[in-house]
Amino acid sequence: MEIMARKIDPRTIALVGGTGNQGPPLAVRWALAGNRVLIGSRSPEKAQSVAEELNATLKSLGCDAKIGFGLNEEVVDEADIVVLTIPFEGLEQTLEKLRDRIKPGTLVVSPIVPIELKEKEIKLIRLEKGSVAEIVAERLPQAEVVATLHTVSANLLANYAKPIEKDVIVCGSRRTARRKGMVLVEQVPRLTAVDGGALSNAHIVEEFTFLLISMGRINRRPNLGFRLC
Ligand SMILES: NC(=O)c1ccc[n+]([C@@H]2O[C@H](COP(=O)([O-])OP(=O)(O)OC[C@H]3O[C@@H](n4cnc5c(N)ncnc54)[C@H](OP(=O)(O)O)[C@@H]3O)[C@@H](O)[C@H]2O)c1
Repeated sequence: MEIMARKIDPRTIALVGGTGNQGPPLAVRWALAGNRVLIGSRSPEKAQSVAEELNATLKSLGCDAKIGFGLNEEVVDEADIVVLTIPFEGLEQTLEKLRDRIKPGTLVVSPIVPIELKEKEIKLIRLEKGSVAEIVAERLPQAEVVATLHTVSANLLANYAKPIEKDVIVCGSRRTARRKGMVLVEQVPRLTAVDGGALSNAHIVEEFTFLLISMGRINRRPNLGFRLC
């Protein structure tokens, strides 16, 4: 079993809305790699309960690390890296709350796919700004923003015993930010980060992810991802 990632220079990573589907398995993966990880939420009780569950998971995987928790605006205060694991519908309100709490130079990661779920139907939201990641960059000018992890499903991330043999595109306005995003992605065993260039390319990845989700539904193949060759 390949559970532990290669050890790297540890960071403090805050997952905003880290209580849903995507946040918890990412938190475990990054804690296993040796980072300090914090679960953020709009509710301190919910953050605590999820962090306690994840600490039990880590223990069962043979890892003594402890994941911390707090309100979204508290955990970002302490973070070198902030990951926005929230649905698109909550973005503007969340960024408004976090705007003055995120330190200059923080790496902010957007895996957000601009979709809305209406009953069982999934719809792509077309954005005037181009992409979700560009909205984030505009609202948080002090941050370095990267768009990545859209195409890795929470189900695959939560299967800690199974390596994820997929490629992941990382877009970002600056090469240094993209490099940091690529290091973060590759802390998940066997995921390969691919430099996707400027943040203006992020809309292509966001829309492609919508296509993957739609194809997964039509073809009854959930968790579709891709490998470039
Ligand atoms: N799920 C996947 O497989 C997957 C894969 C790739 C990318 N993504 C992207 O990752 C993001 C998170 O996905 P997810 O499936 O984890 O989402 P989710 O489970 O629906 O929501 C994650 C958390 O976001 C917070 N939240 C919900 N509505 C909110 C609102 N209106 N305002 C502020 N916070 C809100 C909630 O935390 P609190 O109630 O604790 O605040 C919730 O637990 C999405 O943008 C999605 O497109 C998901």
